[in-house]
Amino acid sequence: MTAWYAGLLTISLIVFSASVYLGLEHFLDASLHQEMAEQTRVIGEKLVDEVTQRGEEYVVGETSELAPEINGRFIRITRHDGSVLYRSGQPKDGSFDSSRVPAATNRVTASDRREIVGDTELLIHRYPFTTKDGKKFLIEEGAPYQQIRSVLHGLLLILAFGTPLIVACAVGGGYWVMQRALEPVNYIAAHAERVSSRNLSERLPSVNSGDEIERLSNSLNHMIGRLDDSFQHISRFSADVSHELRTPLTIIRGELEALAANGVTTEQMEVIGSVLEESDRLSKIVDQLLAISRLDAGEESAGRARVDLGAVALSTADQLRLLADEKSIVLHFQADTGVVVEADEIRLRQVIANLLDNAIKYTSDSGWVKLSVKNDRENAILEIEDNGVGIANESLPHIFERFYRADKARSRLSGGSGLGLSIVKAICTAHGAIVKVFSTEGKGSIFRVEWPAATSSAPSSAVPEHVAHV
Ligand SMILES: Nc1ncnc2c1ncn2[C@@H]1O[C@H](COP(=O)(O)OP(=O)(O)O)[C@@H](O)[C@H]1O
Ligand SMILES: [Mg+2]
Repeated sequence: MTAWYAGLLTISLIVFSASVYLGLEHFLDASLHQEMAEQTRVIGEKLVDEVTQRGEEYVVGETSELAPEINGRFIRITRHDGSVLYRSGQPKDGSFDSSRVPAATNRVTASDRREIVGDTELLIHRYPFTTKDGKKFLIEEGAPYQQIRSVLHGLLLILAFGTPLIVACAVGGGYWVMQRALEPVNYIAAHAERVSSRNLSERLPSVNSGDEIERLSNSLNHMIGRLDDSFQHISRFSADVSHELRTPLTIIRGELEALAANGVTTEQMEVIGSVLEESDRLSKIVDQLLAISRLDAGEESAGRARVDLGAVALSTADQLRLLADEKSIVLHFQADTGVVVEADEIRLRQVIANLLDNAIKYTSDSGWVKLSVKNDRENAILEIEDNGVGIANESLPHIFERFYRADKARSRLSGGSGLGLSIVKAICTAHGAIVKVFSTEGKGSIFRVEWPAATSSAPSSAVPEHVAHV
């Protein structure tokens, strides 16, 4: 953009300079010609015309009064026979030698010629004049072309140095003005980039510039407002739905249990058992959805404390040991000491449990799962790695979506509803943590949680390093 602007400006300036130069050259040339034509005519009509009455001395005397030597001009009056009546002396500035100006060849018509005298170019106007009583003279006046040339040369210098200077100033100034004009836009863009579904209640800073930029920031704020409304509407809706579903589910459960207690046949008992199982499953889904809605709405920030991540991970892994044992999966555990985070411990346990549960679930018998906890500059890192089925590339972007399961049949058999990772993500986001996944289909997966480390370093009690097979 700047290059285009500079290029266009340079071209326009060059065209402008060229026309000024040529225009001035033409003007100076024409006015010199005109001035000399005028002066030769005056010499003819006012002086040479008097030659018969007042004599040649008068003409010579009067003409030299014009002081051509001082003005750097050349004047010559030649009689009809070619003899010179008057010729101006050497010019004071010595720019040419007046005695070496060649005699005219054409003496009949008025003409302009350029003659080279020594190394000076003279512009000479020739004016044939006939007095009232028929005597013929040729009046010549010349001026060094050098005068015009030096004016043009000066102009050329000004243009040659001025053009780049003007372009540089214009580009520099234009850039500065543009930057200043775009500053509020950058400011708004930086703020807009930080807007996400979690801070939709915030607004962009108002810009009171009274121009399009103010309008832009206002429209963006209105748009964020509308987004905020619809987001709130959606999350209120799913929270309300989940909440409303809980009561009837509890009632169904109670009624079924009462029914079972009232003596039923074995077949009926089996049916009741399976309905109870399904209603349990439904309750779990409803609870999870409610939890996600609340986390998304930022309602679960209470109950945070400094927690030793290694200790929490170890005890959570202990709880899941049975699951791993059932499939003969080896659970490796490795944790650095003093990895402390600020968290709601129950939620943190849920993250670890969900990830471990997945790792065990999606790893075939006799595989392994590694859990590690370490510090990495500002973050505490929790990593859960398995050598299980892995996740296909096309599924990777979706696994954190609600109800998404890469292999629906298998996942449902193992009791998954596709909400586990959504909860993990919701909890992490609520705590300012990030969860990442790296996976190769058929080889295994790594889930990595980057949790901001708690601000002051030392944990309340020293925790030993855990290296254990659980
Ligand atoms: N460790 C893992 N190995 C392979 N696939 C996984 C792993 N963790 C999650 N997935 C995939 O991500 C999907 C979503 O996980 P999740 O939300 O926990 O749902 P669920 O476990 O109920 O199926 C799973 O269905 C599975 O396809
Ligand atoms: Mg799961």
